[in-house]
Amino acid sequence: MNKHIDTRPYSGWEQPEPEQAFIDKHADDLEDWRQIRSQVAEIAIANGWTKAEVTRRSGAKDGTFSQWFSGTYPGRLENINKQLRNWVTAVIEAAGMPEIPTSPAFVKTRISSEIAQTLQWAQMTADLVIITVAAGIGKTMTCRHYRATHPHVFHATISPHTKTVHGMLVELASELDVHENNPSRLTRAIGAKLSRVGGGSLLIVDEAQNLVDDAINQLRHFSDIHQCGIALVGNEEVYSRFVAQVKGRSYAQLKRRIGKHLKRQKPYAEDIAAFIRAWGVTDPECTRLLTGIGLKGGALGQIDKTMKLASMIALGDNREVGIRDIEAAWKNRDVEDMA
Ligand SMILES: Nc1ncnc2c1ncn2[C@@H]1O[C@H](COP(=O)(O)OP(=O)(O)OP(=O)(O)O)[C@@H](O)[C@H]1O
Ligand SMILES: [Mg+2]
Repeated sequence: MNKHIDTRPYSGWEQPEPEQAFIDKHADDLEDWRQIRSQVAEIAIANGWTKAEVTRRSGAKDGTFSQWFSGTYPGRLENINKQLRNWVTAVIEAAGMPEIPTSPAFVKTRISSEIAQTLQWAQMTADLVIITVAAGIGKTMTCRHYRATHPHVFHATISPHTKTVHGMLVELASELDVHENNPSRLTRAIGAKLSRVGGGSLLIVDEAQNLVDDAINQLRHFSDIHQCGIALVGNEEVYSRFVAQVKGRSYAQLKRRIGKHLKRQKPYAEDIAAFIRAWGVTDPECTRLLTGIGLKGGALGQIDKTMKLASMIALGDNREVGIRDIEAAWKNRDVEDMA
């Protein structure tokens, strides 16, 4: 990390002096911030990473990282300082290890086109769509890609901890960069942000099977009042829950709100093949084994994890991945029962 680095090709990592107001406000955390910021810049320059890349790698929120880096972040610095310090430590530690094999970048699979079309429909027509596709086929990957390539798209993920109306609203506020501490104003602030872009926005709610019924209702309300598209993404449960919930009420009136339901339980064979190719595997025997793995629960995700481990094994011996490595990796992962 101490080696001389020619910074000329890497603009964007200059470290401007913040405004006085920022210095005054964050007096307690300022020294940490300066130190971590310079380490982050050093790592980024050494690796040729852009801000977007560091945002992604560090797991920081879009927008937050660049504000933090430039010294304009309005919230508290402490947590972000901590998050980035952990990241810096992890990167430095990892630098002493052999390079970890990386997964292929986004592959335009058939299911990803179907998902993207459904999302686009919701966004264009301010409709509510439901996407229930089996695990590991590429829902989250496609939603991220869609957000990265379309304006006014927000992608929030619900966990068992954020499944309540309030939990969901807090999660949405964070994704939408809404700062409102008063719970009674939160719904309005989020709605305002969703409608600000003039009806062309899309809110993707991932892992939506976790939501409680009232939270689903709240989303429908956003769609109705603020004319934004809503996509509920998750497993089969999302749809059955939605239908169960509306059955007792004015069923027809509520059901008409589902503009489109994309449903798929099994991965397309062509998608498995494309993903295996994207991993650089062409050997027929390896392809056959990986195809079998991809047909199990977890689909492309299973192939990805197995190939990562197989690559690590092969890397340790300094050779290309072969059938033995894939077999060893699959066996080592010991998830056969989960199929
Ligand atoms: N279109 C794609 N391009 C590249 N990689 C993909 C694609 N689809 C899936 N993958 C790989 O498969 C893994 C699982 O995909 P993803 O997380 O999107 O699945 P999911 O459908 O959201 O699953 P879950 O229901 O478990 O949330 C990803 O981490 C990635 O490695
Ligand atoms: Mg997912």
